[in-house]
This record gives sequence, structure tokens and C-alpha cells, in this order.
Amino acid sequence: MSNLGAVPNDLVHALSANESASDLIDIATADPLSVFQSWYKDAKAAAPETAGAMTLSTVDAAMKPSARIVMLRSTEGGAFSFATNSQSNKAAHLSQNPFASLTFFWAQHNRQVRIDGAVQEWGATETDALFTRRRRDAQIGEWTSQGMSAATHSSYADAEAERARVAASFDGVTDIPRPPFWRAYKVIPHSIEFWQGNVGRLHDRVLFTRDNNGWKRERLIA
Ligand SMILES: Cc1cc2nc3c(=O)[nH]c(=O)nc-3n(C[C@H](O)[C@H](O)[C@H](O)COP(=O)(O)O)c2cc1C
Repeated sequence: MSNLGAVPNDLVHALSANESASDLIDIATADPLSVFQSWYKDAKAAAPETAGAMTLSTVDAAMKPSARIVMLRSTEGGAFSFATNSQSNKAAHLSQNPFASLTFFWAQHNRQVRIDGAVQEWGATETDALFTRRRRDAQIGEWTSQGMSAATHSSYADAEAERARVAASFDGVTDIPRPPFWRAYKVIPHSIEFWQGNVGRLHDRVLFTRDNNGWKRERLIA
């Protein structure tokens, strides 16, 4: 196996900045969604553009896993929402097997959050509302992604030309409508695990698992 070298000093420095950050979660009382909101707020303050980036892992009908980054769009109703093209691989996987895992890593705070749950598609009204919140250039990008494939766009310049064409088609349109293939999904958490790394000390891991009585809480030191 090749040697990837030492962890760069700046990463070690960033991670060790959290040495006093244990016992953030009181497992006697904590509500996982409130803990998530609080950690997300910290992450957003440190890295506003990337705090919502999460790894979405799916498994297809042949039991093959696949993972990719998507953006968190909302935590409304205690569910973790993302959006994607209905023609994407992940949409196909979810139609075959409607369960997913989400993983956040917030380097600045040396924190990980893992969420496992069942996946449902949002209805049209909620999906429209999520699309409306997007910036105009992102909305145009979503329309551009329709039918994008190696066959239709062999070069990046080709795709940019398509984007310009789409943008021009919306000239004078104040509210760009949602493309019918733009779909929003929610992960309804069955378990949420919070991991706080503590350099030079024990890491702190708290697992919340949903049962009939609400959330079961466990502290797992690892
Ligand atoms: C920072 C970042 C954010 C992304 N956000 C999304 C997203 O919200 N929705 C999405 O479908 N793809 C998003 N992508 C692209 C996906 O990671 C992936 O490449 C693409 O959706 C195709 O995945 P699939 O073939 O597994 O469906 C993002 C990628 C990155 C790096």
C-alpha cells in the first residue's frame, strides 16, 4: 500500500483546537434534533458554504452501495432533506431500496454526525418551496441538467452553451418554475450518532436510536 504521508500540520492544528469540547451532550435529556441544530450552527459559522454538504449513501437492488455528496436543504419536521434529479443513479437506488445513510464531517470542530433512516419523497408543494429558495443561477443550472449525458454534451463548453440557452429562455421570467425532474427527498432518522473527536483524549460518541417511546440514548466511548 502506498504511503499517503503524514497528516498535514494545519489539519492537526484544526482538530486539536477542540481539546476541551467533550461532554457537549447530556444524554439524560438531550434531543438529537436540537443537538444537530446546534452543531450545524457551529459548522455554518465556521464554513458557511460547505456546512450542509453530507455524504448520502444508498444501496441498490443488487445490494451494491454507492455514496456521494449532496446538500442538506432542510431539517423541517425532524427529517433531513436533499434534492436531486429524478433520472439520477441515487434516485434509482432509492426507488429500489428506500433507505439511506447521511454523514457529515465538520473538520473545524472535529465532529461527525451519522444519520440512518427511511427515505420518502416530498410532495409537490414542499418540493416547489425548496426550489423557490434556491438562487436563480442554481435554478438555471438545475434546468440545464435535464438530459445532460455523455452523449448530449461531450465537452464542458457544450454544457455551458446549453446553460446560456436555458438562461436566455428564462429572460423576463421572474419566478423560474421547478423542473419536473427536480425532486426532494427526506431521510426520516431511525438513528443519529454524534462523534466529537478530542485530540489526546478519548473521543466522545453518542448514539440516539428511535423506538416506540421516543429516543433511546447511549454514550459510546471510542
Ligand atoms: C459539495 C457538493 C454538493 C453537491 N450537491 C448535490 C445535490 O444537492 N444534489 C445532487 O443531486 N448532487 C449533488 N452533488 C453531486 C453529487 O455528489 C453526484 O456527483 C451527482 O448527484 C451524481 O450522483 P449519482 O450518480 O449517484 O446519482 C454535489 C456534489 C458536491 C461535491
